Amino acid sequence: MAGGSSSGKLLWRAALLAVVALAGIIVDAASAQLRQNYYASSCPSAESTVRSVISQHVQQSFAVAPGTLRLFFHDCFVRGCDASVMLMASNGDDESHSGADATLSPYAVEAINKAKAAVEALPGCAGKVSCADILAMAARDVVSLTGGPSYGVELGRLDGRTFNRAIVKHVLPGPGFDLNQLNTLFASNGLTQLDMIALSGAHTIGVTHCDKFVRRIYTFKQRLRYNPPMNLDFLRSLRKVCPMNYTPTSFAMLDVSTPRAFDNAYFDNLRYNKGLLASDQVLFTDRRSRPTVERFAANATAFNDAFVAAMAKLGRIGVKTGSDGEVRKVCTAVN
Ligand code: HEM
Ligand SMILES: *[C@@H]1O[C@H](CO)[C@@H](O)[C@H](O)[C@H]1NC(C)=O
Repeated sequence: MAGGSSSGKLLWRAALLAVVALAGIIVDAASAQLRQNYYASSCPSAESTVRSVISQHVQQSFAVAPGTLRLFFHDCFVRGCDASVMLMASNGDDESHSGADATLSPYAVEAINKAKAAVEALPGCAGKVSCADILAMAARDVVSLTGGPSYGVELGRLDGRTFNRAIVKHVLPGPGFDLNQLNTLFASNGLTQLDMIALSGAHTIGVTHCDKFVRRIYTFKQRLRYNPPMNLDFLRSLRKVCPMNYTPTSFAMLDVSTPRAFDNAYFDNLRYNKGLLASDQVLFTDRRSRPTVERFAANATAFNDAFVAAMAKLGRIGVKTGSDGEVRKVCTAVN
């Protein structure tokens, strides 16, 4: 979450970012081993099987699509793309028990677990296809299933063996982040401002609970360090969705105009000050990122190309190799 105002908190964050950055350097060498069609000979039906399971789940519940995309992002930013986000521990020390991950979609988690089970059941495939790769495939699939670009996904990740929930809140962006905070965090993961803006376009589908933006619509409740402008009609409609005594389960669409379509409307909304989170709207408010928002709003191809390129870079973060990893039997537990 944003708002660590004490210098102690800032130092802690800086130290963690340095560790994450170092891990990124070590991992760059390993990422060269990722490649498309990685399972072509070892388990040729892996990708089509994942797609069919994920597609069934998206048809049953649309929430699986945004949920899966967000799951992949959180997996990669926390300890690298190693499916650590999928692990469930009986003592409650797993990532899903961090406040920052509390609203990850259980429907998406279930879809990934089902896809893994289906792949494990394919002849000759048991123990071959990692959960980290299934998550990367599924993230690719939900983008095209909701109208976004189709693309080949690099594979060959191993699943991690370690997890803890304490790190999560220090390595994920908060909804109150400004451009400097967003750029610093994404840069520590090897991602540029352009990548960050393109990836924020994932907010073209899915929802946000009221607590993540309520201080933007009732500013007298708490003085904000910073609050980018919001369209007045949009603000009024949000006050209906999230009254001051809102329930914790109430939510609003991240893309108010086409919430179920993976398109570039998210960027057009920002031009009208209809970005839901401060971290969305700042991309237009800040002069340094505005030209890219304008370009993505005007040119869907430009957005799609940048998104696909940035997803590949996201998927290379912290990849595990050798004894650092394994292919799990089930995604919820280490072997
Ligand atoms: C740029 C910094 C980012 C911030 C500050 C941010 C923050 C958030 C927040 C606060 C939510 C709502 C959580 C809730 O209330 O349940 C959310 C949802 C979501 N985020 Fe992000 N996010 C960022 C980047 C990303 C990226 C890079 C992706 C994927 C590539 C992504 C994908 C999503 C999706 C798809 C949802 C909707 C989830 C659902 O409906 O279940 N976000 N994000
Ligand atoms: C839109 O973006 C694509 C990809 O960057 C580019 O090739 C094309 O020329 C752009 N179209 C316009 C009308 O600017």
